[in-house]
Amino acid sequence: MTTNPLIEQLRQRKQQARLGGGEDRIARQHAGGKLTARERLDFMLDKGSFRELDMFVTHRSHDFGLEKQRFMGDGVITGYGTIDGRPVYVFSQDFTVFGGSLSETHAEKIVKVMELAMKNGAPVIGLNDSGGARIQEGVVSLGGYADVFLLNTLASGVIPQISLVMGPCAGGAVYSPAITDFIIMVQDTSFMFVTGPDVVKAVTHEEVSFEELGGALTHASRSGVAHFAAENEEHAMFIAQKLLSFFPQNNQEDPPFADTNDDPLRMDEALDSIVPENPNKAYDMKDIIRHIVDDGDFLEVHQHFAMNIVVGFARLGGHTVGIVAQQPTVLAGVLDIDASTKGARFVRFCDCFSIPIVTLVDVPGFMPGTAQEHGGIIRNGAKLLYAYCEATVPKVTVITRKAYGGAYDVMSSKHIRGDVNLAWPTAEIAVMGPEGAINILYRRELAAAGDPDALRAQLVQEYREKFANPYVAAARGFIDDVIEPRETRPYLINALEMLQNKRDTNPPKKHGNMPL
Ligand code: HXC
Repeated sequence: MTTNPLIEQLRQRKQQARLGGGEDRIARQHAGGKLTARERLDFMLDKGSFRELDMFVTHRSHDFGLEKQRFMGDGVITGYGTIDGRPVYVFSQDFTVFGGSLSETHAEKIVKVMELAMKNGAPVIGLNDSGGARIQEGVVSLGGYADVFLLNTLASGVIPQISLVMGPCAGGAVYSPAITDFIIMVQDTSFMFVTGPDVVKAVTHEEVSFEELGGALTHASRSGVAHFAAENEEHAMFIAQKLLSFFPQNNQEDPPFADTNDDPLRMDEALDSIVPENPNKAYDMKDIIRHIVDDGDFLEVHQHFAMNIVVGFARLGGHTVGIVAQQPTVLAGVLDIDASTKGARFVRFCDCFSIPIVTLVDVPGFMPGTAQEHGGIIRNGAKLLYAYCEATVPKVTVITRKAYGGAYDVMSSKHIRGDVNLAWPTAEIAVMGPEGAINILYRRELAAAGDPDALRAQLVQEYREKFANPYVAAARGFIDDVIEPRETRPYLINALEMLQNKRDTNPPKKHGNMPL
């Protein structure tokens, strides 16, 4: 059977477009340990689900000889498909075409899928692998970036946005991923920075490698820019898929339900002895999380950054929850600047997308010291407070041990619209820890005492008996119930079911003035 020549021509054009910048550049991409833009989409999306848009788009430039180099698709592959059967919109930058650099038309293609995603209420996943603004296009390219930034901002809180950084992402280009909800970087092959090592050297005389300046581990552990540092590209895409499994498609849907065989009434005796008798001894809060959630499955976000607070997604009775918890093994779980901003951003994401927040509290307070004060612990701690106050999703809190000072208020307390506030019998809720309190309250008596240490020990004991327990707060109704640790899972699931139809709103306003 002969093929219609027009159809043959179409096939050839599509075949040409699929080659991007050509076989040599594809081979170079592979040699660098990277998949091509198309291979990434094939891996990430459900098999056969991808539908490409704008395959025939080319740039409109006539400068610097660009008119002689036109590649179909112009350095970005855009379209839609499904992940686990649910629609997603995607763009995947093709480094084999002008280094994935962003031109006017490249930006238009991204904007088109983002607008479609917003209209149709489905997440956008951006796969970034780009040399930045297309240098030959000058300000037109900068304008294209700004168009993308604007849409990232307008889409924020409407649809989930996930950025995978799988190669270079430099200059102003970093601000598109930075506005999205989650950044997943790939170790060794991706980097993000506003100015690269050469500029850094020229301006500040610092010698720094690409990896140290803006590699995945740097951003996942030091700057907090990256939420995940994946081991390789496949791992990065797996994380994106897993994240989406917890999220609703948009801000008007509820998160998806995932059936589980894990009994909602499951008691866990191990929890009864997890908190050590000595209040100064640490324990791993992540053990508690894994004991409580469905099938022990917890996707930690920002695992390597501000590790004194733990945030991540899990399910309870099949429903998605966002978990925020102190980590007593790191800085005793104190709230510092990084922990506050990490927690605040996570709480706000959950609130955008109707994800109930479970807060596990063991906090000795805010971090003292000049570094923290001068760094703005007041301004930054206020972010976490503001985020919790503002959040109207169901909020369930369990105090496992310490809840001291302002940090008690901040960590989803009753006073800032915590819906169900529980405590373990090991809870200590007070203005400050016993030693600090006694030194202030009894300064004169201690100075005058013949044996100040004995007096201090006696006073600390009295203070502990009076305040270092959950019952003073429970007597006021600030704590709804004191529960046995083993009962935590059934209590939480029950509370979340009770709150299933919760409706709460904030006063009408354009937007609040969050401390930034
Ligand atoms: C046009 C570019 C390009 C760019 C790379 N290429 N970056 N073309 N505009 N920005 C092209 C190269 O000419 C080359 O073309 C191909 O892409 C691959 O580039 P290589 O340099 O060979 O690759 P590699 O050695 O892997 O280095 C990658 C790189 C480097 C580190 C990204 O290309 C680089 O430094 N590029 C410039 C980065 C930059 O300064 N961008 C501007 C940032 S400022 P051929 O034809 O040989 O394959 C910015 C502002 C955004 O982006 C502002 C938004 C508000």
